[in-house]
Formats: sequence, structure tokens, C-alpha cells
Amino acid sequence: MATPQDRGHWGSRLGFILAAAGSAIGLGNIWKFPYIAGENGGGIFVFIYLTCIALVGLPIMIAEILIGRSTQKSPVGAFKTLYKPDSPWVGVGWLGVASAFVILSFYSVVAGWSMHYVYLSLKGVFTVYEPGGTEAVFGQLFANPKVNIFWHVLFMGVAISVVIAGVHKGVERWSEILMPVMLGMLLVMFGSALTMSGFQEAVQFVFSPSTENLTRAGVLEALGHSFFTLSLGMGAMITYGSYLRSKDDAIKSSFLIALFDTGVALLACLVLFPITFTYGMEPSAGPGLVFVNLPIAFSKMPGGSMLATIFFALLSFAALTSAMSLLEVATAYFIDERGWRRSKAVLVTGSIIILLGLPSAMSGTTGFFGTGMSESFIGMSWFELFDYLASNWMLPLGGLGIAIFMAWRVGEKARVAAFTAGTTWGRLYFGWIHLLRYLVPIAVLAVFLHAIGVL
Ligand code: PHE
Repeated sequence: MATPQDRGHWGSRLGFILAAAGSAIGLGNIWKFPYIAGENGGGIFVFIYLTCIALVGLPIMIAEILIGRSTQKSPVGAFKTLYKPDSPWVGVGWLGVASAFVILSFYSVVAGWSMHYVYLSLKGVFTVYEPGGTEAVFGQLFANPKVNIFWHVLFMGVAISVVIAGVHKGVERWSEILMPVMLGMLLVMFGSALTMSGFQEAVQFVFSPSTENLTRAGVLEALGHSFFTLSLGMGAMITYGSYLRSKDDAIKSSFLIALFDTGVALLACLVLFPITFTYGMEPSAGPGLVFVNLPIAFSKMPGGSMLATIFFALLSFAALTSAMSLLEVATAYFIDERGWRRSKAVLVTGSIIILLGLPSAMSGTTGFFGTGMSESFIGMSWFELFDYLASNWMLPLGGLGIAIFMAWRVGEKARVAAFTAGTTWGRLYFGWIHLLRYLVPIAVLAVFLHAIGVL
């Protein structure tokens, strides 16, 4: 039977903020954000993204943390407690748990690439520049199921061993170590980017909003990414909020987490784009920006091998603290709702995710079992399919459910009490509830209409 230790609480507010920021800051900030900003013309996309974070992401983050803090439960239990155990709202909780499995299964594969690149940098693979060399390196990795599976299992093994130690002794303690190290590494990279000739051009690219490259798809991509990057729409923040005590300030913490996440995303751009411009590469290189283009630059610059090691290590650490939160959501369901011991819950969910990630780890193979394993049934690779399903459908749908539930289903009195408890920022309530009631649902519906081709 689960004991109170299986659930646990944060040791301090700083510990919570670092763990939640650790969840938010991940591959989404350092791998994905720079490349989608690059593909969508830079400054104007960044501007829209910042607006989405402030007006859509932040209100949902506050709602999630409040739901968790007031019920002391992970998503499924939280909706059961707040409403009725058999109401359809519990489905929002289920969707969250399902999203945790789907996202972590492919997230771990990309994190595995990053760990493989640490190994390659240490081996000195990025010391000499050869035309087409880094494409070949990435191509070989992608096409090699054994190597992908090895790193995927290793990465999951590390995440499992952290989460199994509990909220306070595992997640919080490791976040307190990994986050400052990660930030330190990013600042070292930034220091080196500052000295590059392409720095000025990069600042221009990231901060000057010319509307020339603005497309409707870009606006919606910015909105969708604001969910992914803040870990919203699947109950990660509900779960982390459930380990808070009722006197802990949820509002100020949400602002800090969002600020931290946004700061790192911008800093990642100011590390990647100076390198990109200095070495004459295209900012719109897509998903390969980090794994193909960046290593070219590393192989051309003095001390590049060391910088490459630092960069991929920081990417791996950032991915790990996010993976911990994804695993925690899945685990907390079994602890809260099934009464499992933490160790059993972590091992079972971790093993399922390892299995679920195998098709993604084998995305680059063809002919596995005589079928095209590289392709799912709708013609994308498994890897792309999982990312697409989660980022474009599951997270926005979950976010919509959470926003509507909080804004329209929870009684006004209980909501005001939850919002104002433990904070001196209670006067923000009016703005928050209006955004959550009107702007958030409209914005998320726009994402869906776009996804089905209506908008
Ligand atoms: N926010 C993480 C990132 O930016 C990804 C994530 C999504 C983590 C959803 C937890 C939940 O990489």
C-alpha cells in the first residue's frame, strides 16, 4: 500500500521552483525553439511567442498549480476530487497521463541523441571539419536502431533512478544540482557566442520583428509551442503543484517559472544563432539545426570540441529534468489512484515507456519484421507521429479542458480562495480569470481549427 512517503512534499519553495523550471526547460527550449524561430523568420515569431506565454501559457500554469495544490492529487485524482468521480472531466486527467507516456517515449529518444553527441564530442569527432561530415554522423545515428535503443534505455534508466528516490530526495535534490549546472554551462556558451562576429546579426534576427516572414501557421506554431515549453496541458504542473503545501505561493512561483523558461529559450537562441551566422549557415535549418549544423560550427572553431561537449551535456541535463516530470505524472497516477508503492509504480511505468519508445528509437530503420518500421500507419515516422499527436492535439486539448474546468466549473468562492491563498499577488485574480475564461479557449480553438485545415 502507498505510504505518505510515496507521495511526498517539496522541501522548500526554491526546490519546487527549480523542479518546475526543470520540467519546463528542456529540449523544447534548446533544441526546438531556436529551430522553429529560425524557420519562421526570427523576431516576429519570438514576439508572438512571448505574447502567447504571457496571455495563454501563464494563466493555464497558474490554473494547473492551483488545481494540484488544492487537491493534493495528480491529474486523475484531482478532477475526481474537484468534481465527481464519474464525471467526463476526469477524462482530462486521463488524457494527461496518456500524454506523459506518449511524450516521454519519443522525448527520451531525442535525449538519447544528445547523450550520444556528448560521447562523440569527447571522442573528438567534431575536431576536424569535413564537408557533409556531420550530416553523415547524424544519418548514421538515426539509421542505427541498436545505438538509439541503447541511449534511450540508458536515459530512461537515469530518469527512473531519480524518480524512484521520491519527490524530495530524488526530483527536488537532482533539480537543485542539475539546474544551476545547466545554467552555468549555458552562460559559458553565451560568453563564447558574445565574442563571435555573427553576434550582432543574431541579436538583430532574434529581436527585430519584421512581419515579412509572418505566416498564420507560424502564429499557431508559437501558440502550440507555448504549451509544450511550459509543460502544460498534461498535468505535469498539477502533479508538481500537488506536492506544495497550501501556504506556498503559487502565483509568484508561476511567474518565476515562466520567466525562467522564456529566459533560457531566448538565451539558447543567442547561443545558437551567433554560431549559425558566424559560420555562414542558414537559421532555417529545421530539426537538424542542433544535431547537424551546430557540430559543423564546432568543428571549425577553436576549442570547439570542448564547447560541443558542454553544449550537448547541458542539453542532456535539461532533457533529464523534463523527463523526470513526465515520469512523475505517470507514476503519481498509480500511487494516488491504485495505491501502489512508489518503487513499483516507477518501475512499471518506466518499463512501459521504454517499450513504447522502441518504434521511435527505430524510426530510421526500414524493413524491420518485413514491414516499413520507419513509417507509422499515416506515413510519418513514429517519432514524428508521436510528437505531432502530443504537441498539436493532446496538450492543447488538455489545456483547453483545464482552462474551461477552472474558469467555468469551479465555484467562484472556492476559486478566489485558492488563488489568493499564500500569495500577496491576489489582485491579479481579475486579469487571470478573464484570460482563462475567454482568451485561452478562443486561442486553443484556433489551434484546432488550424490543425483540421479550417483556419
Ligand atoms: N517542457 C518540456 C520542454 O520544453 C517538455 C515537456 C512537455 C515536459 C510536457 C513535461 C510535460 O522540453
